[in-house]
Amino acid sequence: MIKPWDYINEYKKIKSKIIKSIDSSLSSGFLILGPQLDLFEKKFSKFIGTKFGLGVGNCTDAIFIALRALNIGKGDEVITVSNTAVPTVTAIVNTGARPRFVDVNENYLMSCNKIESAINKNTKAIVPVHLYGQTCNMTEILKIKKKYNLKIIEDCAQSTGAMYKKKKSGSFGDIGCFSFYPTKILGAYGDAGFLTTNNIKLYNKMRRIRLMGMESNIRSKSKFNKKYYAVEHGTNSRLDEVQASILNVKLGFIKYYISRRRQIAKIYNDNLKQTGLVLPREMNDNFHVYYQYVVAHDNRDKIIKKLLKKNIYLNITYPYPIHKMRPYKIFFQKKYEKLSKTENFASQIFSLPTYPSIKDNSVEKIIKEINKLT
Ligand SMILES: Cc1ncc(COP(=O)(O)O)c(C=O)c1O
Repeated sequence: MIKPWDYINEYKKIKSKIIKSIDSSLSSGFLILGPQLDLFEKKFSKFIGTKFGLGVGNCTDAIFIALRALNIGKGDEVITVSNTAVPTVTAIVNTGARPRFVDVNENYLMSCNKIESAINKNTKAIVPVHLYGQTCNMTEILKIKKKYNLKIIEDCAQSTGAMYKKKKSGSFGDIGCFSFYPTKILGAYGDAGFLTTNNIKLYNKMRRIRLMGMESNIRSKSKFNKKYYAVEHGTNSRLDEVQASILNVKLGFIKYYISRRRQIAKIYNDNLKQTGLVLPREMNDNFHVYYQYVVAHDNRDKIIKKLLKKNIYLNITYPYPIHKMRPYKIFFQKKYEKLSKTENFASQIFSLPTYPSIKDNSVEKIIKEINKLT
């Protein structure tokens, strides 16, 4: 069976390094907020190109903490897209703010010319989602930010290492939010997430929010560092030392992970262009990391069923637009502009696997079977 994602082969290759790193972490005397996380925070923020970085429990928490740090909550509106993963919206709604959805362009990314008409007096922020591994048009989004004095929180859950105009996603907005969920470009072996920023005040605030509003752990030298005293209302969202030690090892392979994904994408590009599938495009000024290689076809469901009979199991990311889902319907009003592309794509798209450890002959089999069908 060819699966949409697997980690066992990858783990086998790096097992000795992972075990060694976990052991050194467990032997260090720190389990949470210790030296492995310090090291990872330094290395990952350097990789992204921001001054500061903060490990948190997952990217849903990262987006929530980012919004809270920017004082966004009840009565506020946050512009985002409806073709994203549910957690982008979970995080916005958890702050008490309303998500306001705008449609996407042909590349499945936030359509920048739809943003201005969705802005009103309550709009406080935009959450561009660099979906599938390609960065939104940040030049346009930053222009809108400036014009309307909005905050930008980049959802980089799928775009670790992706670049726009040679700058990494997560270094454009006020705050960048990353996921290290196991399937992601840089995956932990459990849940983990990250926040990036160049703003020291936001960094300090997010640091407190991740630790129940307390200034820091006992290693901090801050004058507010009264043990067990909450300076503000926070939450509990920490990236533990074992996951940090795994991420420290895996960060060493990030260039390979990305180049292998791009290599697989090129093989699909070269060998599927004669089919009836709409293939993904790497836009000008972009460096795509192909978290998902998303193709579209009118007969998507039939194709998926037939491939399953050949033992090829493919994922749809994502089959349901969020504004159509029961808990989030209330955030979409008839008077708003229709989300036509979002809705059409949801019924046409599916993903071909690009995880680095997929075998070449599996990629070849997928190509062969799709060529027979379309
Ligand atoms: C676009 C997007 N945003 C946010 C998230 C949330 O990430 P996490 O699972 O780390 O909370 C995900 C993960 O699925 C995602 O794909």
